[in-house]
Amino acid sequence: MKHRRFGRIGWQISEIGFGAWAVGGEWGTVDDEQSIAAMKRALELGVNFFDTADVYGDGRSERLLGRLRRETKVPFHVATKAGRRLTPHVAGGYNKENLTAFVERSLKNIGVESLELIQLHCPPTDTYYRPETFAAMDELVKAGKIQHYGVSVERVEEGLKAMEFPNVASIQIIFNMFRQRPAERFLAEAQRRGVATIIRVPLASGMLTGKLTAASKFPSDDHRNYNRHGEVFDVGETFSGVPYEAGLQAVEELKALVPAGATLAQLALRWILMFDGVSTIIPGGKNSRQVADNCGASALPALTDQQMKSVRAVYDRHIRGSVHQRW
Ligand SMILES: NC(=O)c1ccc[n+]([C@@H]2O[C@H](COP(=O)([O-])OP(=O)(O)OC[C@H]3O[C@@H](n4cnc5c(N)ncnc54)[C@H](OP(=O)(O)O)[C@@H]3O)[C@@H](O)[C@H]2O)c1
Repeated sequence: MKHRRFGRIGWQISEIGFGAWAVGGEWGTVDDEQSIAAMKRALELGVNFFDTADVYGDGRSERLLGRLRRETKVPFHVATKAGRRLTPHVAGGYNKENLTAFVERSLKNIGVESLELIQLHCPPTDTYYRPETFAAMDELVKAGKIQHYGVSVERVEEGLKAMEFPNVASIQIIFNMFRQRPAERFLAEAQRRGVATIIRVPLASGMLTGKLTAASKFPSDDHRNYNRHGEVFDVGETFSGVPYEAGLQAVEELKALVPAGATLAQLALRWILMFDGVSTIIPGGKNSRQVADNCGASALPALTDQQMKSVRAVYDRHIRGSVHQRW
């Protein structure tokens, strides 16, 4: 496993991390023993960065990370998120009182005295125009409740605006072979400012593994069933916002680019690693097999110019029109 510097915080972070949404919920039934085994496998393979949120399984994902901490001596970093417990989910809710309460709950769930990194969880765009929210985060740092804070964003411009707050240490964003706009300006700007980037939804919710077909069915408690058209949260979080059939067509063409001995998932992750502004990628892992497959991407050789051009051509042909200017 190779490591990268985590922005100005300076941690040495595995370039493949672990996204802990699915082990909490909203991806069909999960089993805690299988989830813990997958997380331990990730540690064995050199992963030292886990992303979670207070709402993943209403705390289940955070509590699993607390359990992981108790059951192993291997050091690792945890980044959690706050804000999505607000109802209604409005910018004004990101105030000192609410943020303090969310932080206290996450401290208990994870079982630590201070959170290493907490991210505002895709707050409404107006939040980035409320300096008082960021001042409240600064106060939580001063109080020792959190060590660093960042934001998770839906849109490139939200990320660029968030970076103007000097203590925003990390930005989490969707970036993958189906979501290429962050490569234009966002990644270079984050790098220039020493802001770490956490890349989520790298496999377009599993589509970029090549295992899905037109006949694939998802359980009723899986967002790939109930959020395909953005019914519950931003549609960009489900299949990266790509219309299902167009995604399948693109995947068929991408399969031809997979190097011998590698998998499409590994190609998808290695493509992301081609960009220097990427600090870490957090593929969601539900079991040890998926984790091992995803970690294997770190060992793949760099893609050639020709492979990069071919991926771009597939994007331009099938994806760009429905995705590029939306986020
Ligand atoms: N708003 C936010 O801040 C936000 C939103 C979304 C995600 N995230 C974070 O980003 C992480 C990653 O995003 P994501 O989980 O939405 O999407 P993803 O990483 O693109 O897809 C993950 C899903 O793909 C399948 N999968 C993963 N690796 C595989 C492999 N090697 N082979 C076959 N299938 C594989 C698994 O589901 P199945 O086995 O069921 O197919 C897994 O749950 C999340 O866990 C979360 O930590 C944050």
